Amino acid sequence: MAYSTLLTDLNNGIFTITVNRADKLNALNNQVMTDLDSVMDEVKNNAEIRSVIITGAGEKAFVAGADISEFVGLNTQDALHLAKRGQDIFFKIENSLKPVVAAVNGFALGGGCELAMACHFRVASENAKFGQPEVNLGLIPGYGGTQRLTALVGKGKSMELNLSGGMIDANTALSLGLVNYVVSPPELMSKTRSILETINSKAPVAVGRAITAINSANTGLKGYEEEIFQFGECFGTEDMKEGTGAFLEKRKPNFKGR
Ligand code: COA
Repeated sequence: MAYSTLLTDLNNGIFTITVNRADKLNALNNQVMTDLDSVMDEVKNNAEIRSVIITGAGEKAFVAGADISEFVGLNTQDALHLAKRGQDIFFKIENSLKPVVAAVNGFALGGGCELAMACHFRVASENAKFGQPEVNLGLIPGYGGTQRLTALVGKGKSMELNLSGGMIDANTALSLGLVNYVVSPPELMSKTRSILETINSKAPVAVGRAITAINSANTGLKGYEEEIFQFGECFGTEDMKEGTGAFLEKRKPNFKGR
């Protein structure tokens, strides 16, 4: 199938999905989310696909977040729907019975970090940068970032990253357990492929059942629902309008706390 915002390639059972909006650092707009939703159906239904790599087009970014320009004019109710839809699509990735690995080739920020974390594990290139910068916009993550980052790196580090909006480099991500390997940019795809070639040589049903069992270690939905609620509430604040407006106008925000 063809997708307007994704490139796909099937080679020896490994299906590579490339988010293809390099001029916007592969930001997740509505069309990318629709395409990710559909492509995961293709992954499920195409018996030739044994495993999946998700990466970003260009040399700069994996995905630099949800598309901030699409936040303009959304109210709390719209934002609740946006977050619920995003979470559902990312659950589809997380619950895929075929392994999905993020090959993180640059910025993985906000929704990009959340996309990488929805994958079963991550391989990063040395130039990768991770973060949940939503507080810079008067927001919080809405696609599972408060939950999955906490599960992956622990509460203290998740708090610091989510509250400071700061970025960490690939080696720091490695030391925190957020990524499994850091390799040079030219090695990123070959390293990721070689891990999947090993996994693809194992029993497919057992691999799928292992994914389901591991995912059940943290299936509590309450935290995800709370995240949707808190994300939606942010859209009723002046700070959110100021933060997103400042990003789009390329200036520093002036938050008032209301
Ligand atoms: N949503 C929409 N557009 C985005 C975007 C996003 N999340 N991230 C980057 N872009 C766009 C920029 O607006 C710019 O578009 P333009 O060329 O039409 O002006 C283009 O992508 C290139 O980004 P730019 O900011 O010029 O690159 P940079 O190298 O100066 O900075 C980042 C890179 C990643 C630090 C910066 O783009 C950034 O902070 N992005 C937003 C990250 C974020 O807050 N994500 C969470 C969103 S909820």
